[in-house]
Amino acid sequence: MSKSKATTQGVAPILPKHYNKAMMKRDEKGYLTYWNDQGKIRVFSGIQPTGEIHIGNYLGAISNWVTFLDDYECFFSIVDHHATTVAYEPGEMPARIFDAAVANIAAGLDPAKCTLFVQSEVPEHTELAWMFSTVTMFGDLGRMTQFKQKSREQEENVNVGLFTYPVLQAADILLYKASAVPVGEDQVQHIELAREIARNFNARYGEVFPECQAYVSEGKRILGLDGENKMSKSLGNTIGVLEPPESIWKKLAPAKTDERRKRKEDAGVPEDCNIYMSYHRHFSPPEDLEWARKGCTGAKIGCLECKKRLLENMEKVLGPIREKAENLRARPYEVNDVLSRGARKAKKIAAAVLAEAKAAMGLVRLKA
Ligand code: TRP
Repeated sequence: MSKSKATTQGVAPILPKHYNKAMMKRDEKGYLTYWNDQGKIRVFSGIQPTGEIHIGNYLGAISNWVTFLDDYECFFSIVDHHATTVAYEPGEMPARIFDAAVANIAAGLDPAKCTLFVQSEVPEHTELAWMFSTVTMFGDLGRMTQFKQKSREQEENVNVGLFTYPVLQAADILLYKASAVPVGEDQVQHIELAREIARNFNARYGEVFPECQAYVSEGKRILGLDGENKMSKSLGNTIGVLEPPESIWKKLAPAKTDERRKRKEDAGVPEDCNIYMSYHRHFSPPEDLEWARKGCTGAKIGCLECKKRLLENMEKVLGPIREKAENLRARPYEVNDVLSRGARKAKKIAAAVLAEAKAAMGLVRLKA
């Protein structure tokens, strides 16, 4: 791609004053990074409004996001435009968006510490996505694993949106000049492409966007109740974050453990037990893990007993989340208010960055 600096012939966009004090420079790894006017790096991540938030989402994503709240400027968006790339029922979407907001706030995304908003309420996302589509290579999009997989899964609906999905994702991130993107392993390829898009844009139009990086939470591979596949709503192997304990127990009790343990007298290996590896390890304190390990390898406790202890420990984490969600659900106007305030805050930055990008591309009026 040819290199040409943006000209200053057109009418300069009006940028908020604070914008000038922020800075862009390379971090210790050499990636172009953006610091806001308070010297903070911006974080962006997207939340699919899937309807149910399960403990795989909680352990793999939300509990990771929460660790950024104090030291970064955080943006979390419920990405409804992304969700429409698969067939869905329009009448159900408003509740899916609401439920995603409730579950994420309840699970720790404190609206006082981050900006939580709905993607389609900030139309700048789709506008920047168009601009980015002209610096995104067709071949790169065709190589995306998620696109290839989704195309196989929904042969009857391989729409263009599914193909350009990563371009909108890049726009989501870069519209806020976010440099840090906490995601699961499966999204790393998309974040790398977003970085490539930023580089292509900068090379062609001048330095506007940071080279965003994926922040993957360490090795939390949460398998579903089947003990074979990643926990996923479409596979029906999930435990919901907001599920009451009676309902969780109905799923937990029959769930597969180490096959060696046919009876209590048969010793087992915790490393071969999905209940231990995927759930106990993340919900139970060290002394209970020790208890489970000894009881299992020494054939002193039964699997049901072990699962009961797990259920108690899960309830210690999930109980308060469920309670918070119930409170929020009883006050839908408050949730709507959080989303309205979030959209307003997001829009302020989004509009400024979009104006900067348009000016760099020469999409401004000729000075009269
Ligand atoms: N594609 C992401 C997922 O399926 C969701 C997403 C949309 C996202 N836009 C984003 C994640 C921007 C990180 C940054 O999980």
